[in-house]
Order: sequence, then C-alpha cells, then structure tokens
Amino acid sequence: TPEKTVYEMIGGGDAIRKLVDAFYKRVGEHPDLKPIFPDDLGPVADRQYLFLTQFFGGPTLYSNQYGHPMLRARHMPFEITPTRAHAWLACMSEALDELGLQGQLREFVYDRLTQTAYHMVNTQDS
Ligand code: HEM
Repeated sequence: TPEKTVYEMIGGGDAIRKLVDAFYKRVGEHPDLKPIFPDDLGPVADRQYLFLTQFFGGPTLYSNQYGHPMLRARHMPFEITPTRAHAWLACMSEALDELGLQGQLREFVYDRLTQTAYHMVNTQDS
C-alpha cells in the first residue's frame, strides 16, 4: 500500500480548515501583518485552504482553480520583510499548537512552512 501523505497524517481537509481558521484569526490581530492584509480575511483563508491542501500532498485544489501557485511572484505586490516572515511563522506556530500537532509530524510541517516563508521575503526591514 502507498505511504500516507502528510495531508492524510495531519487529518485531511477538516484539519487544514481548522489550521487555516486558527492562523488567520491571529494574522488579523497581529500588528505586523494586519496592515498588509484585506479587512475581510475570508477569501484569503479560502485560497490558503486550497493551497495548503495541495502543499501537503492532498488533492491539487489550488492549481485546479488558479494554475501554478508561483507563490513568490504572487507576494511581490506586498512588502514581505524578515519581521513579517517571523510574524507569519509565529501565528502559524500557535495555529499548529491549537490544532494539536505534535512531535515529528509537527516539526516536518513547520519546517516546510518556515522554508517557504523565508523564500517569500522580498524587502529588507527599514
Ligand atoms: C496571499 C502575506 C507567507 C501562502 C498573501 C497575501 C498577503 C500575504 C498580504 C495577499 C492577500 C490578498 O489577497 O490581499 C504573507 C506574508 C508572509 C506570507 C507577510 C510571510 C512570509 C506565505 C507562505 C505561504 C503563503 C509561507 C504558503 C505556505 C499564500 C497564499 C496566498 C497568499 C496561497 C493566496 C495567493 C493567491 O491566490 O492570491 N500572503 N504571506 N504565504 N499567501 Fe502569503
């Protein structure tokens, strides 16, 4: 039998939805992040749900709807500083805790998100 994907090990679509909700609740309250996001985080959360599903080996929901993710390019209109990458990861770390992920699985998930977050940085802190 094929090995389970990270998507399945995390708990599938229900878990990704919970993670995304826990994450954007924090983004909307974070002083470094709130200013660059729209007031209504619903549509961003929906796109992130599609993206993370595919990022962790689930169905390719994001690409089916929006094509190649080209994440770094899609973030270019926003000033992504090291401070903001750090803030993004702090919100994500808390969201992973809220979801209850632990041990090696949590480490793997967080490491992949960390690499991606630092890859998004396109502006230095002033
Ligand atoms: C979109 C900020 C990292 C995935 C966005 C948007 C902002 C943003 C401002 C646009 C919201 C809008 O539509 O108005 C940031 C910041 C990051 C970061 C400050 C810090 C490093 C990441 C990472 C991922 C990610 C690490 C993936 C693991 C996405 C996705 C979208 C998005 C999928 C929606 C793209 C689209 O279809 O338009 N982000 N982001 N972001 N971000 Fe990030």
